[in-house]
Amino acid sequence: MAWISSGVGCSHVPALGVAVDQKITNDDYYGPIFKGFEYSKKWMEQEKPDVVFLVYNDHCTAFDASCIPTFALGCAAEYQPADEGWGPRPVPVVKGNQRLSSHIAQSLILDEFDMTIMNEMEVDHGLTVPLSMMYGTPDEWPCQVIPLAVNVVQYPAPTGNRCYNLGKAIRRAIDSYDEDLKVCIFGTGGMSHQLQHERAGLINPDFDTKFLNYIANDPVTGSQMKHVEYLREAGSEGIELVMWYVMRGALNDEVTEKHRFYHVPASNTAVGHIILENHAEGKA
Ligand code: DHB
Ligand code: FE
Repeated sequence: MAWISSGVGCSHVPALGVAVDQKITNDDYYGPIFKGFEYSKKWMEQEKPDVVFLVYNDHCTAFDASCIPTFALGCAAEYQPADEGWGPRPVPVVKGNQRLSSHIAQSLILDEFDMTIMNEMEVDHGLTVPLSMMYGTPDEWPCQVIPLAVNVVQYPAPTGNRCYNLGKAIRRAIDSYDEDLKVCIFGTGGMSHQLQHERAGLINPDFDTKFLNYIANDPVTGSQMKHVEYLREAGSEGIELVMWYVMRGALNDEVTEKHRFYHVPASNTAVGHIILENHAEGKA
């Protein structure tokens, strides 16, 4: 049977993708950020998931204002890196797993989570930057990837509670898949940041620390946080953080925190990162 071994929370700051692509990850500005991911790359090599289920948000790349799905599940054989204005990032094509995607779509929809099914989709920095942070610059991504795009761009975004419960439904879907596959789930985006208007540049380390503590130790309480609190405390783009609750909901109630990293600033954003392992329950 397929099983979820671990979860990763990770910011998706586009400038970090640029740093990887331009090979400047060791300079004075980016060096301290990428140092925080050295453990993670080694951990990923040992963890070796067959599949990464990657919860992320699209930034008006695959979707624009003409169509705004709350939850869009990738069901394609592959996903091309999108051109976000500077040409597509020079990263490998993202390979999917159509049989597993179809199973997850069926399981979620029959479990009353209505997914939009994406048989074609280009993926932007929301998906490719976390892969670069965790895997570096391989010729091919060493795992299959199933993308789940969550709307956090146009209000109303889903609540943290809805995301947490969706994570639980994803767990049921993956646990009921007949093939032996090890799955790592990523929740991405955040941390506190605001890209526009008077509070542009807002970063709130106290909020971010509280959020990371909730994710690790008390997700049920954390998932009840209202949109207005994200907006006030974490800035307009801080709402990206609800996606981490999809990841957390798919894990066991009790997890082991293997690694945590927090750094300010990267571009306009606080970079946050956490690695959580499920207690293995006899699996290798
Ligand atoms: C930045 C952060 C984001 O989450 C994003 O999607 C785009 C830009 C930034 O900090 O520059
Ligand atoms: Fe973003």
